Amino acid sequence: MKALVLPAVQATPEIREVPLPTPGPGEARVRLAASALNHRDVWIQQGKYPGIKVPITLGSDGVGVVEAVGSDSDSAWLGQRVLLCPSVGWGDDPRHQAASYEILGLPRDGTFAEAIALPVENLVACPAHLDDAAAAALPLAGLTAWRALMTRAALRPGERVLITGIGGGTALAALQIAVAAGAAVAVTSSDPAKIERAMALGAAGGELYTAAGWPGRVRSRFAPRGFDVVIDSAGGEGFGELPGLLAMGGRIAFFGGTRGKWPPILPQLLFYKQVSLLATTMGSPAEFAALVAFVAEHGVVPVVDACYPLEEGAAAFARLAAGAQFGKVVLKNQPAA
Ligand SMILES: NC(=O)c1ccc[n+]([C@@H]2O[C@H](COP(=O)([O-])OP(=O)(O)OC[C@H]3O[C@@H](n4cnc5c(N)ncnc54)[C@H](OP(=O)(O)O)[C@@H]3O)[C@@H](O)[C@H]2O)c1
Repeated sequence: MKALVLPAVQATPEIREVPLPTPGPGEARVRLAASALNHRDVWIQQGKYPGIKVPITLGSDGVGVVEAVGSDSDSAWLGQRVLLCPSVGWGDDPRHQAASYEILGLPRDGTFAEAIALPVENLVACPAHLDDAAAAALPLAGLTAWRALMTRAALRPGERVLITGIGGGTALAALQIAVAAGAAVAVTSSDPAKIERAMALGAAGGELYTAAGWPGRVRSRFAPRGFDVVIDSAGGEGFGELPGLLAMGGRIAFFGGTRGKWPPILPQLLFYKQVSLLATTMGSPAEFAALVAFVAEHGVVPVVDACYPLEEGAAAFARLAAGAQFGKVVLKNQPAA
């Protein structure tokens, strides 16, 4: 089969012929229709990730049809159109992943290929309203956003939510989930056009984090008594503004550090308001199933920025690295002959 293989760190991903994987006990092989990029894939390519082994097929997001099952796997999966949960080996504790946990696409080969073998516990029936590109856009970003908002921050309908850097794939997934859950959402971005597009998806509005005075404006326009929940994956200096934007009992759920270290933060800004700082990463297969059920119930359609054939995967990496995207960058496979 064909796969988009990263041959070496900092090299350009290239199409190679690789062996078709054989599903082991408890596994299935999925003929992939589409996959999608996350910033993680770009950082792995750039060598900014721990534990990189090469050559590797990257990719954590995928949708396709089950074409083979291993021993001990339920044959009822055969022929089903499925979404892949990117969390492999989460374990039994819903509070955190097991030490042996992996994300699809490093160290285990990922979804930028014609087929993949993975545990059947990572399969969920794909909602019928999602085409292949929209379905591929959901898993990693949707799962991370779901756990951040619903499990960790325990979002309630009517609460005020601020999502920073709405151009991010995970931020955008959080916007769609929070809006569908009945929250009032404001956003920040470096790009006025991205704020407009967020408003078309149900955000009340937003502010440019690149313009001086944005924290005061975002608070006075959208949450004079403060935000109940902030979702942040940027980190960096801007994180220092977030505690001051919270309402009493506010929660910040964070899962990224795109802009690096936080600045010093006054403890008084946190403890008097009974603030919760909630670190979160990915999510369990049970959370993934809950996300997919929510998406089906609310008719949520993840935003696709651009689609490339698998063979043009290098161009897809370049688009995400350039940061001009709004929504997910998707790789599509040729339909099986
Ligand atoms: N722990 C986990 O489970 C997990 C899961 C997924 C992602 N992440 C992390 O979350 C981050 C985003 O990942 P992604 O795949 O969603 O990436 P992405 O789609 O490439 O998002 C990058 C976005 O970050 C925003 N940004 C950059 N500088 C900012 C700043 N100073 N303030 C606010 N926003 C800023 C930009 O938004 P604008 O374009 O709107 O300016 C940019 O589009 C990464 O750090 C990633 O490693 C972690």
